Amino acid sequence: MSEAEALALHGGRPVRERMLPYGRPEVTEADIQAVVEVLRGDWLTNGPAVPRFEQAFAEVVGARFAVAFSSGTAALHGAAAAAGIGPGDEVITSPLTFLASANCILSCGGRPVFADVDRETLNLDPAAAEAALTPRTKAILPIHFAGLPCDTEAIHAVARSRNLTLIEDAAHALGAEIGGRRIGSLSHLTTFSFHPVKHITTGEGGMVTVNEPALAERLRRFRNHGIDREVRQRQATWRQDMVTFGFNYRLSDIHSALGLSQLRRLDARLKRREEIAGRYHEAFAAMPGVSVAPTRPGTRHAWHIYPLRLNLDELRQDRETIFQALRAENIGVSVHYLPVHLHPFYQERLGTVPGQCPAAEAAFERLLTLPLFPGMTDADVADVVAAVNKVIRWARR
Ligand SMILES: Cc1ncc(COP(=O)(O)O)c(C=O)c1O
Repeated sequence: MSEAEALALHGGRPVRERMLPYGRPEVTEADIQAVVEVLRGDWLTNGPAVPRFEQAFAEVVGARFAVAFSSGTAALHGAAAAAGIGPGDEVITSPLTFLASANCILSCGGRPVFADVDRETLNLDPAAAEAALTPRTKAILPIHFAGLPCDTEAIHAVARSRNLTLIEDAAHALGAEIGGRRIGSLSHLTTFSFHPVKHITTGEGGMVTVNEPALAERLRRFRNHGIDREVRQRQATWRQDMVTFGFNYRLSDIHSALGLSQLRRLDARLKRREEIAGRYHEAFAAMPGVSVAPTRPGTRHAWHIYPLRLNLDELRQDRETIFQALRAENIGVSVHYLPVHLHPFYQERLGTVPGQCPAAEAAFERLLTLPLFPGMTDADVADVVAAVNKVIRWARR
């Protein structure tokens, strides 16, 4: 093996000098100015930047209302509460997701029921969701894994058959489309996250989009202690009545100004994410030992992450070793996700067990997230391709 070919893991020269992260936020001078303007004004929170951001966001996804929250996790909690989930209720969800998707059900006293994913798309399998229905099922909560729209048509059909609420966790899917319609306009409730690795960021932040005014009202109360009116509506009176239970899950004006400014570049960022995913697809489609990230006809992928799948039966190394080898090459790969039902808390408290979602568990063993963010240069992309080539060639020997 030549010196250039020797793995960095084995003391060879890494493909790049500095670590390339799997995600990185992009904050422009215009974003900074938007925040500074709020800092110089009178309203740091409860002010006009919040509804401005909400309105612009609702327009971008094609929903009637958007309600801002202090994080994607708070948005999920708000959505689950607005859907009326409570003790004794079951909510069917995907195991291949971030913990918050299922934790929001527990936060409301409900029980998450994990239905398996489709082996190809890695999204909630509608047939598995249907098989998991019981008289206690109150809602279905799918996610759009990596930004690939799940089969909402089929999941809607299951939900309609039982009059269930559909809550989409679209933390990965801002800008994704099904049949030309954006995610965020299609279900009762859709939640988003503005964590720094997401399509737009507010540092921490989230949003719920809805079309029904009553749901929007419930969400606004929930994020503000269950109080009937928001601060700006109370200016002529001291009185505030708590009419339901709630929290302080408000997004500040500082965060909202950043979000509104970030939203202006969403389309350009989606395009760059698509370009990078396209390069990966070209580079890896014919490569033995790996399978490219799934796509679905008739949908637009938002490419939050790029999940490369290892064909373990063609490789002599496991995912962990390949992960370490790529990290040694200074490629900041990651893994999304350890299935939720395999976390110790879930196994201990809910009695979930390995083997109950075989497709999600098999997918997890072979998933590797490659760096993907709009600020990546073409040279960064080429480094990822070179490193994957180098490591997989070795892993096949
Ligand atoms: C699928 C999914 N749901 C929910 C969340 C929670 O969002 P946040 O980090 O904004 O609380 C995240 C992200 O972090 C996520 O990836």
